[in-house]
Formats: sequence, structure tokens, C-alpha cells
Amino acid sequence: MGRGLQTVLAAVLMAFAATSAAASLRAPDALRMRNGRGLFDDNCAACHQANGEGIPGAFPNLAKSDFLQACPACAIDFVVNGHTGRVIVNGKPYDGSMPPIGTGLTDQDIADIVTYVLNSWGNHGPVVTGAEVAGMRRSGGH
Ligand code: HEC
Repeated sequence: MGRGLQTVLAAVLMAFAATSAAASLRAPDALRMRNGRGLFDDNCAACHQANGEGIPGAFPNLAKSDFLQACPACAIDFVVNGHTGRVIVNGKPYDGSMPPIGTGLTDQDIADIVTYVLNSWGNHGPVVTGAEVAGMRRSGGH
């Protein structure tokens, strides 16, 4: 094999390695997802159900929710501050009240719950950080 070809191959391999490292950084961390799942089951599933489907007419679905997909920051806001009033999820109106569940939870725990919700039951969303949750607490709402 000529030197030139070797150099090209090495460059291609390095580019490939760099791309896959970046991709795995973006995927949610397994430990964070597990923590998020446990906290979701304890703090959210009573209303939204463990499978994220909610209860029609009372508690909106988180699984495949177009509302959630359009506004991941709203999910942080709802958990930190609660929400009372009208929301429309996949064409269905809800006019209920969600308590500020996050009041007694740490920023990182809330980040893990929201990351779990954004990346479960067929949802594909961003990874939320504790710093983003802290920012939402400071600003007092979205
Ligand atoms: C006591 C019941 C209850 C609990 C517990 C609860 N929620 Fe909610 N949630 C609601 C209701 C009711 C709404 C609709 C709010 C409205 O009508 O103002 C809602 C709305 C939402 C929405 C936006 C609408 C959607 O379906 O995309 C998200 C996201 C959400 N909740 C996430 C959570 C998470 C995460 C937890 C746990 C940390 C949680 N909720 C705990 C009742 C609850």
C-alpha cells in the first residue's frame, strides 16, 4: 500500500471515530435515563401513567405528545412551576392543573426526569441539563 493511500485511510478512520464519539455524547446517558425513569414512576406516573399515555380527558399523554416535542422547555417549566390552564396535546384540549412537582427535587433529578420523558415511548428529544433547570427556576417560568 502506498504512503498516500495510508494517509487517506488514516484520515477517514479518524473522521469516523470523531463522528461516532460526538453522536454518543448526544445520546442520553444510561444512568441518567434510569434515574429519570425511577423518579418519573414515583412522581409523575400517577397522572401520566408509567407508559406515558396519560388518561384521556384528564391527564395528557407524554408519549408522542406534539406539545412536548414542540417545546421541551415547557416540560421543564411545568415540572418546576406547575401549570394551570388550557393546553392542547395532539389536537385534544386539557384544562386542568398540574402541581409544581419539582419543588422538592434537585435540578439534576428534574433534568433526568425530563430527559427520560423526552426520550421514551417513541419520543426522540434533547438531553436536558441541571443548568437548564436551574435557569428555569431563576427565571420563574418559560
Ligand atoms: C397530579 C397529576 C399530575 C402529576 C403528578 C404530573 N402531571 Fe404533568 N400534567 C398534569 C395535567 C393536568 C396537565 C395539563 C395541565 C393543564 O391543563 O394546565 C399536565 C401537563 C404536562 C405536560 C405538558 C402536556 C403534554 O402532555 O405534553 C408535561 C410535559 C407534563 N405534564 C410532565 C409531567 C412530569 C414530567 C411530571 C412528573 C415530574 C408530571 N407531569 C406530573 C397532571 C400531572
